Amino acid sequence: MKLISRTEEETQQIGEKCGVFLEKYIAQHKTPVLVTLQGELGSGKTVFSRGVLKAFGIIPHGASPTFVLMKRYTPQHESVVSHIIHIDAYRLDKETNIDAIGFNDLTKEDAIILIEWPEHISYTPDIPHLMVVCEHGEDETIRYIDIRKPQ
Ligand SMILES: Nc1ncnc2c1ncn2[C@@H]1O[C@H](COP(=O)(O)OP(=O)(O)OP(=O)(O)O)[C@@H](O)[C@H]1O
Ligand SMILES: [Mg+2]
Repeated sequence: MKLISRTEEETQQIGEKCGVFLEKYIAQHKTPVLVTLQGELGSGKTVFSRGVLKAFGIIPHGASPTFVLMKRYTPQHESVVSHIIHIDAYRLDKETNIDAIGFNDLTKEDAIILIEWPEHISYTPDIPHLMVVCEHGEDETIRYIDIRKPQ
């Protein structure tokens, strides 16, 4: 599903809708879900992620995960989702195995795991996986957001 966003707010709203969808999916299937976010610098991955968090009433404060590798959030309303993990792998070595950052422990609960720059880690997810690919468009504030299942 390829969507077009014309503003930062629109990208956040798309992320929020994705969060609402994920909550329903997790309620139905009782499983953690991995969401990988690909796309060049400034393409909107963090804005999208903030939208997902917003669906759970979470407003992130402080440093973005770009500086801390991983942040863990708890839904602010009663939810089947135990927590939301936001990882930014940008600074990791390309060979880093995801187990080195404790990925397998993260998947023991019904969590949502958001990973920016998944190309910088190696992983073979054995949990449902949604791919989000963000692209710059022809104008400065246009972004294309493709949400799909991995092939
Ligand atoms: N339609 C849009 N959607 C999202 N962001 C937009 C849009 N138009 C302009 N922007 C701007 O683009 C930037 C997107 O930044 P964001 O941190 O989300 O990128 P990123 O993909 O996470 O980059 P990085 O790889 O550095 O983490 C923000 O400064 C935002 O204001
Ligand atoms: Mg980012």
